[in-house]
Amino acid sequence: MITSQQAVGKPLDRVDGRLKVTGQARYAAEWPIENVTYGALVLSTVASGRAKSIDVRAAERAPGVLAVITHHNAMRLRSLEQKQRPGVDPDFGEPLSPLQDDIVRYNGQPLAVVVADTFERARYAASLVRVEYHDEGGITTFAQAVPHAQAPLEAGDSNKKKAQRSKDYRRGDPNAEQSKAEVRIEATYSMAANHHNPMEPHVTIAMWDGPRLTLYDKTQWVDNVREQIALAFAMKTEDVRVISPFVGGAFGSALRVWPHVLISALAARHVGRPVKLVLTRAQEFTVPGYRPQNVQTVSLAATRDGKLTSIEHKGTNQTSTYEEYTESLLDPSRFMYACPNAATIYRLARMNVNTPASMRGPGEVSGMFALESAIDELAVAVGIDPVVLRLRNHADDDPETGKPWSSKSLKECYRDAAEQFGWSRRNPQPRSMREGHELIGYGMASATWPAMRQPATIYVQLRSDGNAVVRTAASDIGPGTYTVMTQIAADALGLPVGRVNFDLGDSSLPKAPVQGGSMTVASVGSAVYEVCQAALAKVLELTHGDERSPLKGATFDQTVAGDGRLFLKSDPSRGEPIAEILKRHGRQSIELTQESKPGGDAKKYTTRSFGAHFVEVRVDADLGAIRVARVVSRLAAGRIINPKTAGSQAIGGIVGGIGMALLEETVWDERNARIVNANLADYHVPVHADIRHIDARYVEEHDTHVNPIGAKGLAELSIVGVAAAVANAVYHATGKRIREVPITPDKLL
Ligand code: MOS
Repeated sequence: MITSQQAVGKPLDRVDGRLKVTGQARYAAEWPIENVTYGALVLSTVASGRAKSIDVRAAERAPGVLAVITHHNAMRLRSLEQKQRPGVDPDFGEPLSPLQDDIVRYNGQPLAVVVADTFERARYAASLVRVEYHDEGGITTFAQAVPHAQAPLEAGDSNKKKAQRSKDYRRGDPNAEQSKAEVRIEATYSMAANHHNPMEPHVTIAMWDGPRLTLYDKTQWVDNVREQIALAFAMKTEDVRVISPFVGGAFGSALRVWPHVLISALAARHVGRPVKLVLTRAQEFTVPGYRPQNVQTVSLAATRDGKLTSIEHKGTNQTSTYEEYTESLLDPSRFMYACPNAATIYRLARMNVNTPASMRGPGEVSGMFALESAIDELAVAVGIDPVVLRLRNHADDDPETGKPWSSKSLKECYRDAAEQFGWSRRNPQPRSMREGHELIGYGMASATWPAMRQPATIYVQLRSDGNAVVRTAASDIGPGTYTVMTQIAADALGLPVGRVNFDLGDSSLPKAPVQGGSMTVASVGSAVYEVCQAALAKVLELTHGDERSPLKGATFDQTVAGDGRLFLKSDPSRGEPIAEILKRHGRQSIELTQESKPGGDAKKYTTRSFGAHFVEVRVDADLGAIRVARVVSRLAAGRIINPKTAGSQAIGGIVGGIGMALLEETVWDERNARIVNANLADYHVPVHADIRHIDARYVEEHDTHVNPIGAKGLAELSIVGVAAAVANAVYHATGKRIREVPITPDKLL
């Protein structure tokens, strides 16, 4: 049915904005729970070995303590079989099952939980727990681990989609091309580990009622928490409910079910009262995951006029000793540029650290730092403008699969961003642009992110009072999901946005996919659209044999919905309000719960978003201090549902990219793999003073293949390429090529 498109595409204010700014939006730690107790974790202080003894006596005697739980007295949890692992977990290894044994796998691993009547008493008592170790040292530096790096086990598993990215890849004969190349670039890049550091810490409140368990949790996927907890505690899935209507940022840190979730449930069962477990900022560094360190070597071969003839990209990611975390680090080198010869080699380096996790554009963001830096190095070597070089190697089709793109507006992104930025003012000579004490650098890089879609089930209720309710177990970690789903539903139903109430964040609602991979709008949004349309079809059915309806006999395709009315396309005066139809048929409402799956012709295409970032840096010539003065980004991600929330996501991603480029770095102590900057004073994230002018906008795309609403993912696209653009600008400003992020002043001096 055609519907009035009044809401989609408009910069609607957040529908949950008022709740948030007035403090009424309830985050996981804020639920008032009667009789609640507080958990505090005790973490290991060595990297590898065994907890020989855990002395809990002083803690048990401390005021207000109800229990101290260690592997000695914790209930047994079931461990997960490989086939039970959700997509957000690594396929190989053993997920940490907390408090189940005395093995210390990393520094900062939960070894005990103290439960007390107040948070302060729990933390104090936790400080009294004494652990003695058999300290086995372990692999405590990335440098130690890299020489032993191996291909991931999953590379041998042909059944899994993830295996694709880990397998050695080759097309054509890259080696032969490298040896006969007119121009050749080979460089090694490295990136520090980064921690998500969302503003809201991780927290779970666990509450048992007989065999049933309710969890108030910070999560990006309530259904996954529900299933994983049910498996670990050998419960029926229906007996677990996970509630998470608001999340204060996550960036990938709340995709998996981390140990504290299991511990809160186990502790609540142990003490027979609800337990609230909030991680401290320091614990945020070793209970959830982080973006792994990596080292990458890119070898490019090209003709003298800049046509790429070979791309080789080798990358090694850090992982833990107990799980194989892999990411799509090398994917971009396979498809980003038209090039007949290409190879990627992926390896994992195991260390005694907690397992890394997806973080803000995982894989692409790291791989594109190396690739887009190398392309800039090639531009310098051949003396061609970096934008011109990229256009010369533009991939008109997907070079990896040979498929066409469902849509691709990368050229428009380069052109629009370059023009807005004033790229033509750039003197290509490094150190040639300066203002007083400041060296000025212009740099640019490309962005890309996959456009994915997963099934989602939606409940729609159209009511005789003219309102509609739409529900699904999706998450909204901040991008504006409540708002854009309200817009999509309103238009799909032909209702004003004020008449639609959209609800999410509760596992008792119909199943939705993880809010990860920037695919919520494509997945849940497409489902909302399709199921709302199906609900309208049910309303129209009521009119089929209805003599009193002006719509009698009208088919779905002949009908239009708008302003709460159904009317004929051929004669808009012939129609009636939806509410009227329901009332006449004695219906208070029409309800529908339906699944919506990927379909159409999307599989015939490669579906990705693309973009370009242009950056101006200003470098203090004496001190090496770098400021990002301006960023102009143009992103093409299909249809933009809400330019306001989309714009915020882009700014957020770019700020994250600036953090990665200049500030963010997790530092492990070389002796014992203890994170030495596990706090927000020493782990630097960008603050307002670090961010100047950001102009981030979208290039319109009408993609009729990607999914029914034509929207691709937004947030993660916007961080990809930023670090390379900054590094390229720093090279242009200073003449120094820094191949290691973050680019701190010491690296420039
Ligand atoms: Mo995103 S890193 O998949 O939350």
